[in-house]
Amino acid sequence: MAEKREHWGSRIGFILAASGSAVGIGNIWKYPHMAGQNGGAAFTLVYLACILIVGLSIVIAEFVIGRKTQLSPVGAFEKLAPGSSWKYVGYLGVASAFVILSFYGVVGGWIIKYIVVSITGGFNGLAGDPEVAGNVFNTFTTATWSPIIYQVLFMGFCIWVIVNGVKGGIEKWSTIMMPLIVVLLVVLAIRGITLPGGMKGISFLFNPRFEDLTASSIVLALGHSFFTVSLGMGTMMTYGSYLDKKQNLLNSALWVLFLDTAIAMLAGVAIFTTVFALGANPAEGPGLIFVVLPSVFPQLAAGTLWGTLFFVLLFMAALTSAISILEVVTAYFIDQKGWSRKKATIQFGAVITIVGMFCSFSLGGGVNITEFLGISFFDAVDYLSSKYMLPLGGMFTAVFVLKRWGIPNFIEELTSGMEDSNLSSSLIRSLLTIAAGVVAFIIFNEIYSKIVGVALIG
Ligand code: PHE
Repeated sequence: MAEKREHWGSRIGFILAASGSAVGIGNIWKYPHMAGQNGGAAFTLVYLACILIVGLSIVIAEFVIGRKTQLSPVGAFEKLAPGSSWKYVGYLGVASAFVILSFYGVVGGWIIKYIVVSITGGFNGLAGDPEVAGNVFNTFTTATWSPIIYQVLFMGFCIWVIVNGVKGGIEKWSTIMMPLIVVLLVVLAIRGITLPGGMKGISFLFNPRFEDLTASSIVLALGHSFFTVSLGMGTMMTYGSYLDKKQNLLNSALWVLFLDTAIAMLAGVAIFTTVFALGANPAEGPGLIFVVLPSVFPQLAAGTLWGTLFFVLLFMAALTSAISILEVVTAYFIDQKGWSRKKATIQFGAVITIVGMFCSFSLGGGVNITEFLGISFFDAVDYLSSKYMLPLGGMFTAVFVLKRWGIPNFIEELTSGMEDSNLSSSLIRSLLTIAAGVVAFIIFNEIYSKIVGVALIG
């Protein structure tokens, strides 16, 4: 514990690492199909409002707590509220990291598999036939061992980056991969826009269709704003703990939100222009990426190249998020238990990989430990984490600042590194209160709908 805490090498390195965490499968896979199905620009407007009100205040809260304490969540809450129960919010974060990475690693494995399939020309036989593409996807994901091989590979990459530390691992790889993600997406988006009929995809994504915007789309947008900015499990707190006092946290937070949103929209453009140009079904939903796109790419000239680039960029986005999740677990064992980085990462990376195998097995591989609940273990952990664990973590973080730590202490830390330090404490109090209130309502709504059978809204 006596070892000096690692720090980011540069301001841009931190911003790229934090936005690398935010930009992930959520942006490239979830956002486009959610926007497509829930009113296009109408959904995007609601989502932007959620990001600016709920997202911004909680990202800043996490950065501030992390930098103030120079500790990951459990230690951070314990330091600011010694001997209290607040540290359990930190434990909830570590638990969320465990749960999320277990299924995220499985999807990461699918992405590697699709890179391999694309490079070897495997999409060619799927041209224009999403049904066959769907069968290929189902056969692969419901097999027992082949998804596991790829999941282990993905987790191996993740462990390797984290073993290399904050500067030599996370920052180094985020600085390489984030610009590549943007460049690849821009190339794919230009390819899509310049295809005959591609512009129809733009109007599908950006024309507001308020008639498609239901109450449940609003709840969806709120929940997604949490997941996509990696909030509520202490990722941003942990990344914030490697900062020094010189950084302008408000400015960094705005950059992270901007990059996260811009990349989600760019992904939407790249995907929908291509889908429309080739007359595929845009309302496919979750199957858009693994089913529709593999049947669309081979119809383009140089389709193998476009398909491969797409899955490579998806891999990089997934990896820069997955490492941030593993870092929460690793940092806990380093900060609280005094373990070495290598030991913590390898041991717990391995445990998470094993739990993840059970997520994969539950899709058809023969073992489903949540069979008694009537859902797959994969869906159970996804549901539990995104509907309850992350929102609860975020809500408690806001409540902690409001009720325990106090707005003046919060502002003092926030303004260190800022030139203009005249922040209105009533504005900050209102934003945090709204964020906590909104999230509390969503969780209540979810529980209510489970018990009563109908949601209050949605
Ligand atoms: N933000 C990531 C994505 O959009 C997922 C994530 C959630 C990462 C929570 C870290 C913590 O895919």
